[in-house]
Amino acid sequence: MVILGLSGAVYHDPSAALFVDGELVAAAEEERFIREKHAKGKFPVEATRFCLDYAGIKPHEVDIVAFPYARFGPLYPGRWHYAARHWYAPDRALTVLFNGNRRYRRNVRRVMELLDETGIGSQRVRFVPVEHHLAHASSAYHLSGFREKTAIVSIDGKGEYATTLFAWGENGRIHKIKEFYDPDSLGGLYGAMTEYLGFEMLDGEFKVMGMAPYGDPARFDLSRLIDYDQSSFRVNTDLVNVIGLRRYKENGKGYFFSPKLVEWLGPKRQGDEIDDPYVDYAASMQHILEDAALGLIDHYVGDILRETGKICFAGGVALNVKLNQKIINLPHVRELFVQPAASDAGTAIGAASYVAMEQGESVRSMEHVYLGPSYTTEQCIEACRRHAQTPRWERLTDAAVRGAGIIANGHPLAWFQGRMEFGPRALGNRSILGSPAHSRMADRINAQIKYRERWRPFCPSLLDRVAEDIVQTKHPSPYMTFTFDVAQEWKNRIPEVVHEDGTARVQIVTQGTNPRYYALIEELERRTGNAVVLNTSLNRRGEPMVCSPTDALNMFYGSDLQYLIMEDVLVTKE
Ligand SMILES: [Fe+2]
Repeated sequence: MVILGLSGAVYHDPSAALFVDGELVAAAEEERFIREKHAKGKFPVEATRFCLDYAGIKPHEVDIVAFPYARFGPLYPGRWHYAARHWYAPDRALTVLFNGNRRYRRNVRRVMELLDETGIGSQRVRFVPVEHHLAHASSAYHLSGFREKTAIVSIDGKGEYATTLFAWGENGRIHKIKEFYDPDSLGGLYGAMTEYLGFEMLDGEFKVMGMAPYGDPARFDLSRLIDYDQSSFRVNTDLVNVIGLRRYKENGKGYFFSPKLVEWLGPKRQGDEIDDPYVDYAASMQHILEDAALGLIDHYVGDILRETGKICFAGGVALNVKLNQKIINLPHVRELFVQPAASDAGTAIGAASYVAMEQGESVRSMEHVYLGPSYTTEQCIEACRRHAQTPRWERLTDAAVRGAGIIANGHPLAWFQGRMEFGPRALGNRSILGSPAHSRMADRINAQIKYRERWRPFCPSLLDRVAEDIVQTKHPSPYMTFTFDVAQEWKNRIPEVVHEDGTARVQIVTQGTNPRYYALIEELERRTGNAVVLNTSLNRRGEPMVCSPTDALNMFYGSDLQYLIMEDVLVTKE
């Protein structure tokens, strides 16, 4: 059976994912093809075309289209909760009560347009909507490979109405335990504070998390933002996650916090200069998120954790790697699986896998994220020949050895290999690599290309056989979705990838999932003694990750990088 999952339901991160007989064969985000980060307001037309093309499936061979956004009847508690909590904006409250599926209908219209545009045929194919948080939950649980009873957690800004779902999975079925509804949203609260701290929602959350270790969570009491105990929470919509007239406005743009928040905490942070007291606010925000989430997890799925120790997590908040470290450290947790595309891009996988299970297929577990397009060496050479900058290139016989040599000599290297990653992390196929032992390597990469905010630390990829030595745990970490405490000895050996708080967000590389990347790190170990490489995504700031060889060349010539290896081709500048 051929099932296509499409995301794009909530106006950002549209993507497509294709399952053939229970196997995830291709997935990609639209932003990579149209070269527009998060592709806000778009639908995944190019991503759909890629998935079908890659799998050699004709549009009319698609059996089912799964979409992570559902309709809800008039008695659905989420609609009533939303209305009751938004009486300060009566037009919105009434709309939700009397016309609560408006957005659903708009979404369906746009999906139908996409299906006709791509030749799949809106009249022919079966369309199956899946509740947003069930899609998130499925993207984690059904792809985790966990067989035993499993706790499932999904937390994001919001889907249709739900913002948070606690559930459990067994024998391929997901059972709901508890849902929370907008505006009571941990993701929404964190997003509003992200805006207040001067960053953009969807990108800036990582920066708030990176800022937090520099501050003191006890210096300011931000508990007014949210009222919570173990079993429940209520966001203070006098201050955050606000809509309509209650929004703070600046130069015509409305924000998800109120002027009252500004009266209380001071002006919204501007630029990247002033840190005090904002680093402390970030620390408090991170602390509140961890405290509230961990309490709820214990309350709603603690019994399952005590029974099997298995937990799955998705939704945008699951990208909070510090929270994830705390979940792993909970006493009964044996293994946490975070869907690597935890934010809305991953709901394409989630909706499709959910429907596949309902159809009686058995969904295979996810072993890697290399699900996008790949290019041959000949195609890379062709791209060089056609490029306006007339690149100087040579063919390599051993790209891994040559690449490791460049890195060991202290140079950043743009590394383009195999299939593009799905999800926000570059995991060795569309990466910029550097030696984590060379002092000021992070500064060098910043100077040559990334200009990354100092709040976003760089991260390491390391070989499986040295992982336990470095991060002092046997817990798997293939996708950079967790931080771990770095062993004291290693902090000095790889300082460029250790964060302020002594942690690192690691990718543990195995030979089976990425042999060429493994070989490169092994060669680097021979030359430097460390089986570790600094790894950041192949893109310029504000742009999506590189997809094609031409994108790679454009980025290369738009930066001060000196070395680019694409498959078996080395491109250099002089
Ligand atoms: Fe979501």
